[in-house]
Amino acid sequence: MNPTIDLLKSHRSIRKFTNRQVDDQTLTAIIAAAQCAATSHFVQAYTVLRVRDMIKRQAIAELAGPQVWVARAPVFLVFCADLNRLEAACGMQSTVMEKGWAEQFVTATVDAALLAQNVLIAAESMGMGGVYIGGIRNDPQTVCDLLEIPDQAYPVFGMCLGWPAHDPPPKPRLPVDAVLFTDRYPRQHDTDMLAAYDRTTNHYFLNRSSNLKDETWTHQMAELMGRVIRPHMKAFLEKKGFFLK
Ligand SMILES: Cc1cc2nc3c(=O)[nH]c(=O)nc-3n(C[C@H](O)[C@H](O)[C@H](O)COP(=O)(O)O)c2cc1C
Repeated sequence: MNPTIDLLKSHRSIRKFTNRQVDDQTLTAIIAAAQCAATSHFVQAYTVLRVRDMIKRQAIAELAGPQVWVARAPVFLVFCADLNRLEAACGMQSTVMEKGWAEQFVTATVDAALLAQNVLIAAESMGMGGVYIGGIRNDPQTVCDLLEIPDQAYPVFGMCLGWPAHDPPPKPRLPVDAVLFTDRYPRQHDTDMLAAYDRTTNHYFLNRSSNLKDETWTHQMAELMGRVIRPHMKAFLEKKGFFLK
């Protein structure tokens, strides 16, 4: 359709990287482009930490799974939702910042996610690839301790970046008709459409280049949603000063 849409449609997570390094100039250009993402009320409520220290990186790789690509990627970033810069701004204006509101949590988390997705797209536009690492939330307190992330900030996810050393096919997404509706929410989700999507995803899982398995989307989701994942997150976020009211 156009080169931007072609790029978006060619996305696939990359978990194996060549040894080619990403220089500071390239990373700075990627972050600068990513910062042009829309941001709620212009708050820019995020901080990105590049983890170069291999001892810290290895510790994060372990707690995230282990996930070896976290240790091996040329670049590993941690995206923090962060209200501290805003508190500094309030201090400059002799204002006491309101704290602990759920709305602030949503704002900062969404801002961090928009920035991160722009980072990935900018990197992909240069021929690089990457993968988000939600696994860092397995033990977010240790990530905070390792990277000295203060209260009023939390690590939302990590991201590996580098030049791809494999070329997996894109994962088929739900049909647009399953996610886009007009004027009102659907009375029910179309299970025939989901069954058709199961056949599509089953074909993908049986035929992709590695980690072949006889899997479907609904089976994978049922397994995922049928268990409790990271039950510590509520207490962790409250401890960091988020989501209190
Ligand atoms: C917030 C978030 C967290 C993720 N965490 C991980 C992770 O910890 N490890 C991993 O290998 N992939 C992770 N992924 C990648 C997803 O598994 C992947 O995007 C999804 O399966 C779709 O595949 P694709 O990106 O290749 O299209 C994460 C993706 C997102 C958006």
